[in-house]
Amino acid sequence: MKRIALLGATGSIGRQALEIIDSHPGLELVAAASGSQPIDGIAPLTQVGGDLAELLERAEPDVVLNAVVGFAGLRATLWTLERGADLALANKESLVAAGALALEAWERGGGRLLPVDSEHSALYQCLENRSADQIESLVLTASGGPFRGKSRDELTGVTPTEALAHPTWNMGPKITIDSATLANKGLELIEAHFLFGVPYEHIEVVIHPPSIVHGLVRFRDGAAIAHLGNPDMRVPISYALSYPERSATPVPPLELRTLEFHEPDLDTFRMLPLAREAGERGGTYPCAYNAANEVAVQAFLEGRIGFLDIAAAVEDALERVDGSPARDLTELVEADRRARDLVPVTS
Ligand SMILES: NC(=O)c1ccc[n+]([C@@H]2O[C@H](COP(=O)([O-])OP(=O)(O)OC[C@H]3O[C@@H](n4cnc5c(N)ncnc54)[C@H](OP(=O)(O)O)[C@@H]3O)[C@@H](O)[C@H]2O)c1
Repeated sequence: MKRIALLGATGSIGRQALEIIDSHPGLELVAAASGSQPIDGIAPLTQVGGDLAELLERAEPDVVLNAVVGFAGLRATLWTLERGADLALANKESLVAAGALALEAWERGGGRLLPVDSEHSALYQCLENRSADQIESLVLTASGGPFRGKSRDELTGVTPTEALAHPTWNMGPKITIDSATLANKGLELIEAHFLFGVPYEHIEVVIHPPSIVHGLVRFRDGAAIAHLGNPDMRVPISYALSYPERSATPVPPLELRTLEFHEPDLDTFRMLPLAREAGERGGTYPCAYNAANEVAVQAFLEGRIGFLDIAAAVEDALERVDGSPARDLTELVEADRRARDLVPVTS
């Protein structure tokens, strides 16, 4: 029996994880948390809001599935890595923001870090724990979101409802807006850098509208290994929770069809090059990128700023933060706060 703690149990990933856990006799849900919605009775230990590390301390899980959205998931990520419990990580924002601090905690703890993000789960499976020196490049695929092919002019007046209509994935609101701006791919670029230790210049992003190829690794011997599957998060969730087994899921077998790939439009979707720039600058620039994006996305969803203002706000914040590395969690939280304060939320 694996003892699972599920953080973010009421969200899109959380609900799909409950389905996987319910149908798997080897997985036992020992604790669950949400931010504000009630979750009474779904696990022996439950918590709404509050300190996630305290809940984990009491639950003593073997695996923590961190499916909280945003920087709020940071302490749970660090707690799990430090303790050496297995971390099934959907909350990419925590790895992007904490970067080096998270890797240090992971090394001290010695547990497994199993990505739940479908692209990183795919890359993890293609890599089979091979070292970075055998890799020519990692290729992250992006659906392109609802605004693929649109010009900046066409994006000026788009509404939250239009931005929330994702063509292939059904996800929570924050990541859906991140997919529309390509910030999601930007966060994933930084996430891949930290997860796999590959330099940014060896991580490519391609637009692949059907979302069938989830990730591809080019190796130095000329071989390229790709991971294919229907776009369904129950597959990477099940993989991370059942690892090293592969358990059955209700996801139908993949029907093969034509695959198309395009270059991303970096002039229109500025959040992608901004992420690369923040990642390459290092220090707390990725933390600032994430923080400014979280505030700007919320402001867009509430109708206080326009769609293109999201990237403008993040670019402006990145120009104004100092970006020096955080030596500890207190400094990281401070860097996050300073970047948040720099985002104008009315335009
Ligand atoms: N959805 C996907 O397909 C997908 C794919 C890849 C990666 N991810 C990543 O997975 C994470 C979750 O995404 P999602 O789409 O599932 O988001 P979501 O549907 O918005 O759910 C977010 C979850 O986080 C909980 N939460 C928020 N603040 C919290 C706090 N302070 N303490 C405890 N729980 C808190 C929410 O609880 P309440 O409901 O009570 O507010 C909810 O359960 C994100 O980092 C996202 O980037 C998602």
